[in-house]
Amino acid sequence: MDIKEIETDLSNKLSKKRFIHTLGVVNSAMYLAQKYGANIENAHLAALLHDCAKEIPLLEMRDLVANLPCDQDMLHSGALLHGLAGMVLANTQYGVTNPDILEAIRVHTTGKENMSKLDKIIFLADYIEPNRKFPGVNDIRLAAEQSLDAGVLCGFDMTIRHLIDRGDSIYPLTILSRNDLLRHMKKGGANNG
Ligand SMILES: [Fe+2]
Ligand SMILES: [Fe+2]
Repeated sequence: MDIKEIETDLSNKLSKKRFIHTLGVVNSAMYLAQKYGANIENAHLAALLHDCAKEIPLLEMRDLVANLPCDQDMLHSGALLHGLAGMVLANTQYGVTNPDILEAIRVHTTGKENMSKLDKIIFLADYIEPNRKFPGVNDIRLAAEQSLDAGVLCGFDMTIRHLIDRGDSIYPLTILSRNDLLRHMKKGGANNG
């Protein structure tokens, strides 16, 4: 499928709200890719597909990832699992084979240690896309103008604070990813912009 066909397919499969969000993420991801010197076409495709599995039932997500390593926390949460399931769908249903794009889809919710520039762009675009209205979103937008790392850090911070405020558990990889990012930033910002 070419990118236009993928967009049409998603417009039919996703809810209107999710599709509008998706186009917002495409917009922000392409902007960030241009600003920070990443491949714009890869950012476009990864953003378009980042939530392709978000609305499928949890049991179907589990079927999709059945042959992949996945911990219990993730298996019980569609909010966490849709990245991994989306990576599988992007590959099997939409024919994406570029490992950088697949990885950015996989980690867009949790982050990971040693995120690539594309991983950071999709993670961050998901927060700052123009339709997002949550309190504090402008702080992340401002941080994203300083550097990719500053924006991603602000996203991690806000998510972790939000989870604590709601009394929710924090997925351990999110903490590890934030610690890793901080380490790289203290070393002098050598972690992909
Ligand atoms: Fe998502
Ligand atoms: Fe999203």
